Amino acid sequence: MDATLNTPYLCRPFEHGADIVIHSVTKFLGGHGNTLGGVVVEAGRFNWGNGKFPAMTEPVPSYNNVTWWGNFGEYGFLTKLRSEQLRDIGPSLTPQAAWNLLQGVETLPQRMDAHVANAQEVVQWLATDPRIGYVNYAGLEDHPHHERAQKYLPQGIGSVFAFGVAGTDQLSGREVGGRFIENLQLASHLANIGDARTLVLHPASTTHQQLTSEQLESGGVREDLIRISVGLEDPADILWDLDQALTAATGINREGDVVETVTPAAATAEPTSEKAAEGVHA
Ligand SMILES: Cc1ncc(COP(=O)(O)O)c(C=O)c1O
Repeated sequence: MDATLNTPYLCRPFEHGADIVIHSVTKFLGGHGNTLGGVVVEAGRFNWGNGKFPAMTEPVPSYNNVTWWGNFGEYGFLTKLRSEQLRDIGPSLTPQAAWNLLQGVETLPQRMDAHVANAQEVVQWLATDPRIGYVNYAGLEDHPHHERAQKYLPQGIGSVFAFGVAGTDQLSGREVGGRFIENLQLASHLANIGDARTLVLHPASTTHQQLTSEQLESGGVREDLIRISVGLEDPADILWDLDQALTAATGINREGDVVETVTPAAATAEPTSEKAAEGVHA
């Protein structure tokens, strides 16, 4: 299980039957988006000798014919990982990176509590804003995984989720998304997540800009979708920023009143299917 978004503070996968848990420590565990790292944790309970994993049970010529499962038992998988992957590919941390990441881990509970509290405020605020089409957060009762989330994430759902900016009479959801991102002043426009700072991304105008609305929809990334990783700033500042960017993007305020005339911009318009087929990045 990839538990990067939850961290061991919010979710304990081994208690629910997982055998291997991975984390990108680059995210919440490190906490500051300044250092790359990853960890693999094995419960040591999986039966690698069940006949389906010859790479774990057959002799390894490059290591004097040891077998990872036969010689190392419950430590077999991680010994294979260290001995083969570290040797062949070399993904080891520098001492400075390890130190940076450990500094982050020391404050994990305090930071995650603050991330969760901020995220809940942002979710409630977005869910009651007329300029927002939907909020996709498992903490909300109408989310399809709400019940499951209560069971597996009793301390909180985390702070990364998606929401949709509604299109207006003048602008498509795609255009509003692009304008919204451009107008944010506090939140950073970044593809990372799990940082102390609030980060946002609008796939339809950046990472997925070559796709048409239909292609985005069929890929599960709607044209109006914004991903947010809620940070540790004062929640009032985060809400101020979201509010002013939504007003600038749509010309409509939180009360639903039109306060400004906005016109479509060519840069955020949907690509033609011809351009999309050529993979042109507008
Ligand atoms: C959920 C999740 N798992 C794993 C990774 C991989 O992280 P890294 O690039 O640090 O290996 C990412 C990176 O975006 C992620 O979001």
